Amino acid sequence: MNNELQPHPVCYLAPLQGFTDFVYRRLYAQVFSEIDAFFIPYISVKNNEVLRKYEKEVLPVNNPQTRVIPQVLAASAVEMLFLANYLSTLGYTEINLNLGCPYPMVTKRGMGAGLLPYPEKIEAILAAFFKNTNLKLSVKMRAGLVSATEIEQVVPVLNQFPLSEVILHPRVAKQLYAGDIIESAFEFATSALKHRLVYNGDVNSADDYHRIRQKFPDTSYFMAGRGVLMNPFLPAEIKNQHFSQTERKEKLIEFHKLMLEEYLKVMDNPGNALNKMKQFWIYFCHNFAEPKKCLKKIVKSNGLTAYQTAVNLIFHGNLS
Ligand SMILES: Cc1cc2nc3c(=O)[nH]c(=O)nc-3n(C[C@H](O)[C@H](O)[C@H](O)COP(=O)(O)O)c2cc1C
Repeated sequence: MNNELQPHPVCYLAPLQGFTDFVYRRLYAQVFSEIDAFFIPYISVKNNEVLRKYEKEVLPVNNPQTRVIPQVLAASAVEMLFLANYLSTLGYTEINLNLGCPYPMVTKRGMGAGLLPYPEKIEAILAAFFKNTNLKLSVKMRAGLVSATEIEQVVPVLNQFPLSEVILHPRVAKQLYAGDIIESAFEFATSALKHRLVYNGDVNSADDYHRIRQKFPDTSYFMAGRGVLMNPFLPAEIKNQHFSQTERKEKLIEFHKLMLEEYLKVMDNPGNALNKMKQFWIYFCHNFAEPKKCLKKIVKSNGLTAYQTAVNLIFHGNLS
């Protein structure tokens, strides 16, 4: 592993399709600091076209943060080059290849974690990429599709190419997003991988971060997803910064207000904006004492006025 040990941890925001969209990423960066790079959830190609729904995610105007890395799902060298070219035309200089998506709809089409049992396919994609583009490339991967031994065949392939880094979520795809982290797979990568290695998976608190740091002292690059959605202060806490209760509340109120305003602007109608906000609360409710109760109140709210009433009750602690 080629990890220049950083004096401070480096913290990336994980891509979460449907959650860390362009609205979330931009407003998060505006209200909170301490994320060092934002990863855009995957885009893919169908019939030689990038789907409309992905376009606004990658438009540079929607991604003003300093370091934003788009991610691609590709089943072949042809798809990889199509997407690389598309993103390069938009002005991106670095992209990320998804070798981790666990959903059968994706893996059965030979994409995401579906590529892990086929190191020769990964090799063909990477060879075509580095032969035909000047972009930088990182990889985000699982330990395997069904078995954590798959990584042992994949790492030698990754070592053949000048990747900028490898982000490893040490679970196998069939676990989806739960079950034990396979520490031995991460351990293997720390010794066998030539590239910088980024840890991802269940970093939900500063304590989680310290525990992982103790286990893997050479790792100073982290990626967090659900933990940030549940607690937007997590990257700051990992970097040992603290906020008073008043500051926290003010920032949460501000963030929520901006999210609602922006979804009302960018969604087709207020109903869709409200649905996006209800989805946002699936994780955001964890900022409050009784998360389940909060979420229930939000989900039950019918229309914007009821929603605002529920939000006010939650923020001002009058939930009954
Ligand atoms: C709803 C959801 C959507 C996700 N979308 C993506 C995605 O588009 N690309 C990707 O590489 N990983 C995706 N992931 C995986 C996360 O990036 C991350 O690897 C995983 O959640 C583990 O990290 P965490 O425990 O910090 O959340 C997604 C996960 C969830 C729960």
